[in-house]
Amino acid sequence: MITRRQFLHYSGFTATALLMNRAPALAQSTTVKAFTLDPNILAKFVDPLPIPPIARPDRYQSSPENPAVKTPCYRLAMRPFEMKIHRDLKPTRMWGFSSQGFNSGFPGPTFDVRSGQDILVEWVNELPGKHFLPIDHNVMGAGADQPESRAVVHVHGAKTPPESDGYPESWIVPGKSVVYHYPNKQDATMLWYHDHAMGINRLNIYAGLAGAFLIRDSFEDSLNLPAGKYEIPLVLSDRQLTPEGQLFYPASPDPKSPWVPEVFGDAILVNGKIFPYLNVTARKYRFRVLNASNGRFYHLSLTDGASANGASADGASFWQIGTDQGLLPAPVPLQELMIAPGERVDLVVDFGGHRGKEMILRSDSFVIMQFRVSADKVNDTSSMPAALRPVPKIPESQAVKTRLLSLNEYVNRAGEPVLMLLNGKYWHDPVTERPSLNTIEIWTLINPTDDSHPIHLHLVRFQILDRQKYDPSTYQSTGKLKFTGPVVPPEANEAGWKDTVRAEPGMVTRIIVPFEGYPGRYVWHCHILEHEDNEMMRPYEVITD
Ligand code: C2O
Ligand code: CU
Ligand code: CU
Repeated sequence: MITRRQFLHYSGFTATALLMNRAPALAQSTTVKAFTLDPNILAKFVDPLPIPPIARPDRYQSSPENPAVKTPCYRLAMRPFEMKIHRDLKPTRMWGFSSQGFNSGFPGPTFDVRSGQDILVEWVNELPGKHFLPIDHNVMGAGADQPESRAVVHVHGAKTPPESDGYPESWIVPGKSVVYHYPNKQDATMLWYHDHAMGINRLNIYAGLAGAFLIRDSFEDSLNLPAGKYEIPLVLSDRQLTPEGQLFYPASPDPKSPWVPEVFGDAILVNGKIFPYLNVTARKYRFRVLNASNGRFYHLSLTDGASANGASADGASFWQIGTDQGLLPAPVPLQELMIAPGERVDLVVDFGGHRGKEMILRSDSFVIMQFRVSADKVNDTSSMPAALRPVPKIPESQAVKTRLLSLNEYVNRAGEPVLMLLNGKYWHDPVTERPSLNTIEIWTLINPTDDSHPIHLHLVRFQILDRQKYDPSTYQSTGKLKFTGPVVPPEANEAGWKDTVRAEPGMVTRIIVPFEGYPGRYVWHCHILEHEDNEMMRPYEVITD
């Protein structure tokens, strides 16, 4: 059963349609919609897919771990810039990251580092003092007394000491910078960096403050996966655009509180371009896919230009080889997959059987990009091993604590969501989740809402235990979980190490989490950025006792 709300989420409807659907009184929404550009009037596949450059260190400095060792230090500055997101549009004003030898772009430069090699990053705020997207001063941390332009960078999925994790209140204003230390003591995977400033991170990320961060290790090297020019990051993000091709961030009809519960754009950008194409040869490629969108879930499939799907002889369109936090135990053949905001998937696509063909990457009715497979025969020396990295299942008996945590949405009289909380608590309530360092806990996420919420915990990686339908009204009145459906284990392609999990509507989703790394203050939150910015984020603290 798919609810109307989910249907809207997973399909092409915009937040505007969503608002109108739930609150017919808000007639202004239609006017607003009329001011956005329909991307389908744009020519498809006229721009090559851009590949963000690899970030280069610009100096070496003593490592905080060992002052005798010099560690690479990168300087990334956040700046306003303009970028062509399509051949036929004028440059779009954005905010982005620039680094050594690279003028700002979106996505920012890609970090490509080795596991265990620590790095330093100097994050510099060179943004203008005024924001160009609608700040809601009623939102926590974004009051009119706060500077408009604030930023703090978090590396999502990184096992980082608390002082370098980009705590939402640790933002800096233009003219300031901060040096963060990333030990990178974790398995090879794709992380990503993005702004996390309290109350405005939905706007800062929408403006373009995000980029990819790859960690490599020798285990991954030994697999001989497609690499070099055959390994390509695909950063997906959707935007609404004005007819002039500028970013349009929708606002509620109330000018005093412009916050909207979700934003969906019908312009889908891959590495910052709408409808790009990529020339490929008839061999295996590895795609590192990141959903950097504010609220859109993608339902990805690959189809042959001519036939209905791009399936190879064994029925797979692609193989998923990794999740948020690294390689899966074995490749999972798939025809389609779901990716929520904040999640990453590591894919291998074999174009070997598609010589001379054009393939399309889609999300339901959306065309995202095109692959043009050359007709030439090529010798593919890369492998796709039958076994990848083992992911030993953590026995439930090892958990020292189980926490029941509900996800809450509150609506106004018009049925409009106005606030989201985690376990009924606001950001400023005292810290309630205080796991001990080096212990394992089960977090039971109880979702009575109509939304799928991608829940992310900083610092840690975890495994999904299961999901199960339950009766929300019994839980509300008695605090007891009455299950109404079977226990559903995670899908094969999410049965690896994760840092973001879809807590599905009307279900209880259980994760098992080893709290390893560092003691201190972190956060956990919904990765729908509009939710996160409106109280669906809580501090948590790893303690040593
Ligand atoms: Cu993608 Cu709190 O992070
Ligand atoms: Cu994170
Ligand atoms: Cu949410």
